[in-house]
Amino acid sequence: MSGHGEPIPMTSRKGAALKGVAEVPGDKSISHRALILGALSVGETQVTGLLEGQDVLDTAKAMRAFGAEVTRHAAGIWSVNGVGVGGFAEPTNVIDCGNSGTGVRLIMGCMATTAITATFTGDASLNKRPMGRVTDPLALFGARAYGRQGGRLPMTIVGAEFPVPVTYTTPMPSAQVKSAVLLAGLNAPGQTVVIEKEATRDHSERMLAGFGAKITTEVTPEGRVITLTGQPELRAQRVAVPRDPSSAAFPVCAALLAEGSDILVPGVSQNPTRNGLFTTLVEMGADITFENPRTEGGEPVADLRVRYTGDLKGIEVPTERAASMIDEYPVLSVVAACATGTTVMRGVKELRVKESDRIDAMARGLEACGVTIEEDLDTLIVHGLGAAGVPGGATCATHIDHRIAMSFLVLGLASQKPVSVDDGSPIATSFPIFEGLMAGLGAEIARD
Ligand code: S3P
Repeated sequence: MSGHGEPIPMTSRKGAALKGVAEVPGDKSISHRALILGALSVGETQVTGLLEGQDVLDTAKAMRAFGAEVTRHAAGIWSVNGVGVGGFAEPTNVIDCGNSGTGVRLIMGCMATTAITATFTGDASLNKRPMGRVTDPLALFGARAYGRQGGRLPMTIVGAEFPVPVTYTTPMPSAQVKSAVLLAGLNAPGQTVVIEKEATRDHSERMLAGFGAKITTEVTPEGRVITLTGQPELRAQRVAVPRDPSSAAFPVCAALLAEGSDILVPGVSQNPTRNGLFTTLVEMGADITFENPRTEGGEPVADLRVRYTGDLKGIEVPTERAASMIDEYPVLSVVAACATGTTVMRGVKELRVKESDRIDAMARGLEACGVTIEEDLDTLIVHGLGAAGVPGGATCATHIDHRIAMSFLVLGLASQKPVSVDDGSPIATSFPIFEGLMAGLGAEIARD
C-alpha cells in the first residue's frame, strides 16, 4: 500500500517486570532475499519462518508481478516457483514497495539487467528516500532511471538490453546498495565486483552462494572485495529464516529497562554483521547471556537470556561498529537515556536517510521526554538520567517509522510518566506481532 492508513496512537507505561519467552519474527533482510532469490531460481524454493510484515508482503507481491509464483501455505511457510536469472517478465502495473527501502532497492537491482521496464512507488516515507545511491551503479550496467527530483520515487527503471559487468566501490556503508549491484550482476556476463570499505550485513553473499552462484569475498586493505560470476543458474533452495536480531532488540532492551525483568529470546541471529547492539549492551553492563549457540538456516544463532540489573553505564560506541547495528541506534538511544553517564554514537549519518531521519526523530522525542541530547550531522549524544530518571510524559512523533514507534514505546516502560506515540501503525511493516508479544511478557503497551 502506498497510502498510509489511519494512525494508531499508542501509549506505554511502567508496570510489572517482564517475564517469559519472546519468540520474535523472522529476519526481515533474509525474508526479502529468500523471496527475491527464489524468484530468480529455477524450481520451487521453500521458505519457513518468513517474516509476514508488510515490507516483505510487498516484496512477495512484486515478485508475482515479475512472473514468479509465490504461495503462502501456512503462517511463515511459503514457496516460490522462480523464473530463473534473466527470466523476469515486464510488470503490467506499478510496483508498490510500501515502506520498504530494502524491497525497492533490491528489486530495482534484480530487474535492471533484464530488457524490461518497471515503475516503482512507495508510501510517503519511501518516496522521500534517496534512490540515486542504487540507480548510479545500475546505470553502469546500462540501465536507465527516470524519477522525481533528487532521485526520488515514483521512478521508472528501463533495464539494460545488453548489460555489462561492473566494478563498483560503494560510497556509503549500505547492504542495500551492495545487494542491488550484486543482484544486477547476476544477469550480466562476466564478473561483477563490489568493494565495500566497511563490512555491512552479508546475507546477500551468503544466500547467493547458497542458491548456487559463484561468489567470493576477499578481505583486503581497501576493504571487502566481493566478486560474483554472472549468469549462473540459481537453483531453488530450502530457506529457514532465523529470528530477526533487529526485532529482538525491542524486547531485549525493554527487559533491560523494566525493573525485575528476566526473559528469554530464543533463536536470534548472531551474524557478526548484525550483532553490534548486543556487544554494545554488554559493554554498558547489561546482563545478557548467549545460550545454546548453534547454526540455523546458515546463520549463527543463540538464545538470549536477558535480566534487569538497573545498572547500565553510558559508553562511546565505536564508529566501525555502526553498520552492524545501524537499525538499532533508536532503541539504543532509549537505553542510553536510562543509563548513567553519557553515550556517544558517532558515524551514524546513514540514520538520516532511513524510514525517517532517525537522529532527528529520536532527539526530538527524547528531549520531549526530558532527556538532554546533542547532535550533529553524523553524531548523536545522549546524556543518561539513570534507571528511574527519565521523566517521560510526552507524545513522540514516529514519522511513519516502525523502529521510532517501538523505541519510544520501550522508553515508556521505564520512564516516570507514560510515553505516547502519535502512530504505531508502521510497526506492522517489520514486527506485526509486537503488541501481542510485549503484552505476553507483561508490558503495558496499549492503543489509546
Ligand atoms: C538492509 C540494509 C540496511 C538496513 C535495512 C535492511 C538490508 O540498510 O538499514 O533495514 O536488508 O540490506 P542500508 O543498506 O541502507 O544501510
